[in-house]
Amino acid sequence: MKYLPVSAESLNEGAQILKNGGLVAFPTETVYGLGADAFNAQALARVFEVKKRPYFDPLIIHIAAIETLEKVIDFSLINEEMRKKLYLLAENLWPGPLSIILPKNEKIPGIATSGLETAAIRFPDNEAAQKLISLSTGAVAAPSANPFGGLSPTRAEHVKNGLGEKVDMILDGGPSRVGLESTVLDITGDILKILRPGGTPKEAIEKLIGPIKASSEQDAILSPGQLENHYAPRTPLYVLNSEEIINKTFDKSDDKKTAFLFFDNNSKDSWLNTQKEHKTAIIKVLSENGDILQAASRLFETLHELDNLNVSQIFAQLAPNTGLGEAINDRLLKGASN
Ligand code: TXA
Ligand code: MG
Repeated sequence: MKYLPVSAESLNEGAQILKNGGLVAFPTETVYGLGADAFNAQALARVFEVKKRPYFDPLIIHIAAIETLEKVIDFSLINEEMRKKLYLLAENLWPGPLSIILPKNEKIPGIATSGLETAAIRFPDNEAAQKLISLSTGAVAAPSANPFGGLSPTRAEHVKNGLGEKVDMILDGGPSRVGLESTVLDITGDILKILRPGGTPKEAIEKLIGPIKASSEQDAILSPGQLENHYAPRTPLYVLNSEEIINKTFDKSDDKKTAFLFFDNNSKDSWLNTQKEHKTAIIKVLSENGDILQAASRLFETLHELDNLNVSQIFAQLAPNTGLGEAINDRLLKGASN
């Protein structure tokens, strides 16, 4: 396995590996992706194998130019209405943390989409990712570069620790800017649906193409990223609302084995004020001033850190449920043991 910083040479070499059917982990603005050539069924099969990902969970196909849509989707299955929405979204929100479900063409092997006739397409907002994709076949399928069900990687080290020698190359492009996966949006039906909340807030999409339906249990089956027990740290994680966490007490003997993850400093201070003991618990704050973007970008990173401290439990506070807060809470709740 090659572990290299992003450079003109390493990107060239990575693209070559992809074209030869190999696997390259690369940075994106959301989380690190485990890339394989989207047209190569054998390479795609290896992605599932390496991640231990169930074959019913489809991959996202990454492109680096809007024109590449023509190489991966079937425009004959797109009506005027859908086409308008697609271009409004693409022109305003791409490159960015938004994956759009569209009818795939026959060049994309069924294994990429778990047999679905649709594919999730995304144009990432990260220069290294864009270069790697452009230098390869132009379409790179990439799930998050972590073992299935675990915390997503926001740094190259996370990929090395989680997948290591199983991949051919890891490109280190520093910490991910957004820190949460893309929003997955289905525009193929009459009703617009968010299948996974993520780095593009619902409000930004609605401003362009109108109201989106709240996702339901049935949609969860379509987008297994919605399944429970995803994004889970190895350490038991308990998710609490603001009032619950501020008043949280626990067995004194657990003091040094317990970690608290607060949304902001105000919440942390309120908790400290309620505690007579327990002040030696491990305490982290997602964003001192309660900035939702900063909190999102630190979520997985902080959970990775806490997971490596070998504590026996983590209590985490839910974020305000607006904008990116929805995606933060989705990840916390899916990763939680309670
Ligand atoms: O930000 C991201 O999206 C990252 C980076 C690497 O780009 N990728 C990522 O991929 O999060 P992954 O495989 O961890 O999540 C893909 C999600 C899953 O929830 C999957 O079920 C959904 O997208 N998905 C993919 N294709 C789909 C389709 N055709 N229909 C419905 N859901 C789909
Ligand atoms: Mg994932």
